[in-house]
Amino acid sequence: MEIIASPTEMQRWSENARRHGETLAFVPTMGFLHEGHLTLMREGRRRATRLASSLFVNPTQFAPNEDFSRYPRNFDGDCKLMRTVPVDVLFAPEPEAMFPKGSQTWVEATEVTKGLCGDHRPGHFRGVTTVCAKLFNIVKPHVALFGEKDFQQLRAIQRMVVDLNFDLQIIPVATVREPDGLAMSSRNAYLEPEERKRALALNRALRAACEILARGAQTTADLAGAARMVLQQTPGLEIEYVDAIDAETLAPMDRIDRAVVVAIAARVGKTRLIDNVVLLPSSEPESLSLSSIR
Ligand code: PAJ
Repeated sequence: MEIIASPTEMQRWSENARRHGETLAFVPTMGFLHEGHLTLMREGRRRATRLASSLFVNPTQFAPNEDFSRYPRNFDGDCKLMRTVPVDVLFAPEPEAMFPKGSQTWVEATEVTKGLCGDHRPGHFRGVTTVCAKLFNIVKPHVALFGEKDFQQLRAIQRMVVDLNFDLQIIPVATVREPDGLAMSSRNAYLEPEERKRALALNRALRAACEILARGAQTTADLAGAARMVLQQTPGLEIEYVDAIDAETLAPMDRIDRAVVVAIAARVGKTRLIDNVVLLPSSEPESLSLSSIR
């Protein structure tokens, strides 16, 4: 695996690969890799002849009160895991190379970043879309893979790629979970054993939303209510938000007549966790036609 720190060198590598007829898949990460990241990379491997990844803990997506300085890092361990995929080239720049003094241009998807994490992490998605726009211009991939685990991030990136005519395809990858259902996350490393057990409430809450839909729930309020109830029954867990909204636009929605995403953010101890599930309205033609008549 080649490791490149300089943006111009990375651009040259990609131009050269493209000139030789290679197709390039790309998985951006902030490192401390787990099976979720590796699943994206393996999918990328299948989708192109060359696979690039990046490892950059992006300072511009962390608010001053967030965990940028203590975000878990393990460069050597990450390189080892990437080699198992295998990743062909790793772009791992220094912060000064990505955001040199004088940087002042931002990319922002305005509507899709309202609500959910957008309301609780001011400036976060602006940092994400800006760094991804830069990474796309540096790595020049044909396809880039993003996890559904960070659902609002996925929608913001998809919006940006359409709105700014980036010549690449975004491929969403389903959330990878631990055997007990906890969504994999680099931040799970922060959890104490007791907190790790409490964190399972997020998964239970999403399952409660699925179950109430299967039993005939008609509104997003029913779904969010069922999920909220489970979370409220978990001591030591602080809800940041529970919402059920349009899975395409992330706009509020009332009746469940199209795909809905139930999304949760909660704090367990000091650790902020997110999870979500996308649900479709009951496929029974009767209930569908009823909901569209009402
Ligand atoms: P990071 O949290 O390292 O995640 C990198 C990619 O892995 C993202 O697309 C994320 O959605 C995906 N991912 C994380 N956990 C996953 C899981 N359990 N299952 C499936 N995919 C999972 O997301 C970021 O980094 C950054 O915001 C980044 C896009 C790199 C921009 O800085």
